[in-house]
Amino acid sequence: MKEIILNHPLVEHKISILRDKNTGTKEFRELISEITIFLCYEAMKDAKLKKTKTTTPITTCSTNKLDENNYVFVPILRAGLGMVDGILKLIPNAKVGHIGLYRNEETLEPVKYLFKVPKNIQNKEVILLDPMLATGGSACAAIKMLKDEGINNIKFLCIIGVKEGIERIKKEHPDVQIYCAKQDEYLNEVGYIVPGLGDAGDRIFGTK
Ligand code: PRP
Ligand code: URA
Repeated sequence: MKEIILNHPLVEHKISILRDKNTGTKEFRELISEITIFLCYEAMKDAKLKKTKTTTPITTCSTNKLDENNYVFVPILRAGLGMVDGILKLIPNAKVGHIGLYRNEETLEPVKYLFKVPKNIQNKEVILLDPMLATGGSACAAIKMLKDEGINNIKFLCIIGVKEGIERIKKEHPDVQIYCAKQDEYLNEVGYIVPGLGDAGDRIFGTK
């Protein structure tokens, strides 16, 4: 499945501000949230609608509504948490799960510390959220955890990704559609995305 990269001037503009090391925590959070709304808009293009009837002030007509119960959003902690409020603005009744992972700074391997998803979601669409896709280790580990629970309808949304991570997901989980707001150039020797935006978790939570 080919990855979907958002190529849009508005997204480009917001990512430029996000990258700036002088952008403060409040604005950084707001931008993560806004860019996530664009990603969600794109990821919902194939959403199924239920036929309904609506009475307008003029007449009654047939309308179409989303089955909000069909969606489960799963942020990868910590940084993925920054994407949740944006996505819930669009689909406020969606369920939310959590996967806690951090990268071991030396090996860059993901270390799991939390896995909590709503019950009976095997038939739902699960949308995994993480602003950064670097080596792809965290995303692939999270996707595997979801699949081990019997979940097979998964999309992955990230704000900045590099080829290495994108290719890793495509190789290990070819059924997962990737939506990425911007593809960056490369990973440096300590596993950071270049030019990137630094450590997304630290910038969202102001921990550095
Ligand atoms: C960051 C980011 C991803 C991961 C990406 O998390 O939010 O989860 O790194 O890197 P990878 O593709 O090489 O696995 P981090 O480990 O810094 O944890 P944090 O969100 O708690 O800061
Ligand atoms: N995680 C981040 O937060 N930033 C990077 O550049 C790579 C991984």
